[in-house]
Amino acid sequence: RLVERSVGVFGKSGTGKSFLTRILLAGVIQHDMAVNLIFDMHNDYGWEVVDERGPRAKGLKQLFGSRVAIFTLDEESSRRRNAKYDHVVTLGYEGIQPEDLAMLKTTMDLSDSMIDAAYELQKMWGKTWIGTLIEASSETMDFLKESASINMPSVLALKRRVQRFERFGFLMPQALDDSAQRILEFIEKRKSVVLEFGRYGNALEAYILVANYLTRRIHEMYVKKVETALGDESMEPPQLLITIEEAHKFLDPLIARQTIFGTIAREMRKYNVTLLIVDQRPSGIDEEVMSQVGTRVTALLDNERDIAAVLMGISGAGGLREVLARLDTKQQAIIMGHAVPMPVVVKTRSYDTEFYQSLSGTPGGSDGSSTPYQSSTPDDRDSRRIR
Ligand SMILES: Nc1ncnc2c1ncn2[C@@H]1O[C@H](COP(=O)(O)OP(=O)(O)OP(=O)(O)O)[C@@H](O)[C@H]1O
Ligand SMILES: [Mg+2]
Repeated sequence: RLVERSVGVFGKSGTGKSFLTRILLAGVIQHDMAVNLIFDMHNDYGWEVVDERGPRAKGLKQLFGSRVAIFTLDEESSRRRNAKYDHVVTLGYEGIQPEDLAMLKTTMDLSDSMIDAAYELQKMWGKTWIGTLIEASSETMDFLKESASINMPSVLALKRRVQRFERFGFLMPQALDDSAQRILEFIEKRKSVVLEFGRYGNALEAYILVANYLTRRIHEMYVKKVETALGDESMEPPQLLITIEEAHKFLDPLIARQTIFGTIAREMRKYNVTLLIVDQRPSGIDEEVMSQVGTRVTALLDNERDIAAVLMGISGAGGLREVLARLDTKQQAIIMGHAVPMPVVVKTRSYDTEFYQSLSGTPGGSDGSSTPYQSSTPDDRDSRRIR
């Protein structure tokens, strides 16, 4: 039931959201409940993961081998971390639409008139407008001044903003190949894809831009495939769970209506796509979207507005307020909503060798790691705990 509707993992910083999410995803993969596309902002899911306790924790690729593929936007970072990546993702300038800039309004401090200017430039220059703007010489800019429909101060300000894209090595005039298509090929083979951002994870605009761009394309392909299947489930693409972090940046009330993530949350499971959103500030998420987050897994929250946001629409939530504010600072959470009959407080299992062993023996096995695994059969008790 977890993947039947969108899922949220909440909790303030350091409460174990990433660890908990990795445990949930491991369960989803092990039981083949859905295929995952994970926009991995801080390299938390694919390969070895920094653990405050000292030794590094294993990523999903190390646990599930060929059932998980790592795509990277930052080849150098993946190589340095010895992550076994399957594909390097590049994006062409022609893939970026003025709509994408609208998503980045707050993050990049863009005004409405700058976004209007983007639409004007696209009309004039076509698909390559953004590359043309970044590289525009002073002659080109002088030439623009002649055009009556162009607001020059906005164009100049926009040019300065989008020039930030030049530091993103994965963005180029023309993409090396169609990454959305490549991701879809893996997904259709029921292989989960972790997209590592490497050093670009520190640039929120890179994360939002790439996640929006790829998700929009993949969702379009999903809609087409589901519609051509005409209700024949065997022809439909597999259930897809898309994980995003810093979700409130995608789903704040100002943009939730326009973004692809808002669309996916609202259309529920119609096209076999649901979201797993990870966030430390749930009060920043649009209320309508939040109401579609069927199952909420919440670690400690101490801000009243965040607590109110995660409890919204949960029946009998009054008493949970206290419980939520008093959870341990790590490895404790409340699960509520669609996947459970009633809210329940859980101790999150430890993400350690015992956990890794409980997963071995899964179909596909683990081939991505240098550490040998004991091959034991999956422990029923443990898999129930995951669910
Ligand atoms: N289930 C777990 N098993 C083992 N260790 C855990 C678990 N949950 C949390 N921890 C410990 O707590 C630390 C912080 O967890 P994590 O990185 O998941 O927090 P977070 O909520 O994602 O933080 P941030 O908001 O900064 O991203 C981990 O480095 C790990 O040491
Ligand atoms: Mg985290």
